[in-house]
This record gives sequence, C-alpha cells and structure tokens, in this order.
Amino acid sequence: MESIWITDVSPRDGLQNQPKLLLTGEKLALIGLLVAAGLRRVEVTSFVSPKAVPQMADAADLLSLVIEQFPQLQSTVLVPNPRGLERARLAGAGEISVVLAATETMNHKNINQGLADATRNCQDTVRAAKAMGMRTRAYLAVAFDCPFEGATPVPTLMALAEEMQAAQVDEIVIADTIGSATPGRVRDCLRVLGRAIPMNQLAMHLHDTRGLANANAWAALEAGIRRFDASTGGLGGCPFAPGAAGNLATEDLVLMAQGSGFQTNIDLGRLLDVIEFTQLKMDRPLGGRSYSWLALQKHKSDLGPRGLSQGPSES
Ligand code: COA
Ligand code: ZN
Repeated sequence: MESIWITDVSPRDGLQNQPKLLLTGEKLALIGLLVAAGLRRVEVTSFVSPKAVPQMADAADLLSLVIEQFPQLQSTVLVPNPRGLERARLAGAGEISVVLAATETMNHKNINQGLADATRNCQDTVRAAKAMGMRTRAYLAVAFDCPFEGATPVPTLMALAEEMQAAQVDEIVIADTIGSATPGRVRDCLRVLGRAIPMNQLAMHLHDTRGLANANAWAALEAGIRRFDASTGGLGGCPFAPGAAGNLATEDLVLMAQGSGFQTNIDLGRLLDVIEFTQLKMDRPLGGRSYSWLALQKHKSDLGPRGLSQGPSES
C-alpha cells in the first residue's frame, strides 16, 4: 500500500494567530497527543521575533523539551532569517523551514523585505542550515493568490522554486496561504512544477478557507504528491494574510487518504483526543469537516479509537 507523509503544523501555523497564548507545558502536551496519534513529523514552533508573533516567544524552551521527550519525532521549525537559524541551532533543531512569499507585498508584510531580498535571505538561510547538517524546507507562500496582489502566475512560482532548488533545499512546500486554490489550479500548477522538480521533493500546504482544501489535496495526490502539511482540528490562519482561515484538517486528510487506499499510520480516534484538548485550551469549537461524524463514531460503544483507525463503518 502506498503511504502519504503528513507534517502536522498545528503547534506553529495553528497556534501563531490564536489570541489565547498557550503555556509551554500545554504546547508540549499538544505535541504529545499528536505523537500518540501517530504523527511522525510536527512543525513545533517558529524562531521569529516575539514582537511579530508573541505566541512563539518560548520557541527555544519548547523545542528543547520536545527533542528531549520525543526523540523519535521529526521536529521541524520555521526560521525567518539567520538570527532565527542560530536560535534554532542552539535549541537543537535538526530541520528548518524558510518562508518565501511569491509577491513583493506579502514578503514585506511577513518578514519586512522585498521579493529579491527575501529570496536571497531564504537561500542564504537554507545554505547555512545545510552547512550545519540540517534538513531544509522552503515554503512558497501565496503560491496561488496573494491577498494584496492577486493571482500568482505559475511561471513566477516556478522561478522561485528554481531559486530554492539552486540553494539545494530538500523540500519545496507549495503553500495556499489564503486557501483560494481549486483542484484544477492545483493540477495545472503541479503539471508545470513537475517538469523541473521531482514530485517527492514537493509538498502541499493547504488552507480550508473555501472548503476546498481536501479536494485540492486529492488533486495533488493524483498529480503524484505524497507529502502534505495539515493541522489537527483545522486550527490556523496567518496573522499577516487577511482572510486566511485554518489549515486543511489532519483528520479530513487522513480520512480521505485512508479511504482511498493510502497508508498514513495515523489513528483517527486519537486525533479526536487532540481536537478535544485544543478546543478546551482555545475555548472555542474546532474540528475539520469530518469532525462531528468522527466524534459520533467514536461514541458508538463498539468503536474505540482502534476501530476508527481501521476505517469507520457507516452510521
Ligand atoms: N528571533 C527573535 N528576534 C528577532 C529575530 C529572530 N529570528 N530576528 C530579528 N529579531 C528581533 C531583533 O533583534 C529586533 O529586536 P529589538 O526590536 O528588540 O531590537 C527586532 O526583532 C527587529 O529586528 P529587525 O532585524 O529589524 O527585523 P524586522 O523588524 O525587519 O522584522 C522579522 C523581521 C523577520 C524578525 C519579523 O518580521 C518576524 O519575525 N516575522 C515573522 C513572520 C512570521 O512568523 N510569519 C509567519 C510565517 S507564514
Ligand atoms: Zn499556512
């Protein structure tokens, strides 16, 4: 059976825009629940300016604790510049991501640099991380549409992907930051990118603003993508991109992929534990499109978490 590889980004992309700040111990508990659900790779935090994103002020403490308590987990962290990379290195990071937005304005909003400077900054950060022996990812943000500049032309995206390839980045993450992609656009975009970049070097990072994230994930699967970002409960939204809603919910992606013959090694029942925990901490309802149905299955007495992970029966 073919596998897909999910990076759960809830502790970073999920939390960065939440008004309620979590304590380091609470984030650690959240990551523990993700590990218990079978997630093998988690975006733990970001080493950004605490003035820009107060929720990430405890990045160094959190990453050190995660590495100590979950040594088997592939922890990944976001860094915006060489300063962030150095902080991540000191905390023990083995993998980092940089963010390169496809437009001038979005780069300014995000990291206070224009497109040319941001490209150089991301390349330099990736090269420096590789020299430190780290694995590297580059997000190409606003890959489909920018909230300030409109549609991103595919050739622009391709050029940026090639810039990051020139820096020998290990993985390029196509990020639909505001959740405006459609399955047809995903297919067309990947058809072009696939001419220069191997599919196993690409990942999709989708947001569910218009309810199309899972359909977009399916289009990406059909195009040969096997690496996805997702956030349990659909927690998320970018503080610098107005209108961006939560990420593709991990439970929706797992349900769709498992039901279509892909192995994920993720236990849907245990993902519900993550959602319940996050709802409690955020003090608001969360959950992807499949959440209420999954919760109903779980509460049927003969179906525990194990039953759900095997694929729930019809109600
Ligand atoms: N970690 C912590 N602090 C940092 C930092 C980092 N990686 N990089 C810079 N800083 C601090 C500086 O020391 C300085 O602090 P001071 O005001 O106390 O002197 C302050 O941040 C400003 O530094 P400067 O180099 O002038 O940066 P800037 O104001 O141009 O901001 C970023 C640039 C990248 C630091 C900031 O925009 C940022 O952190 N953005 C994060 C964006 C993000 O998380 N986006 C989500 C991803 S989609
Ligand atoms: Zn995102």
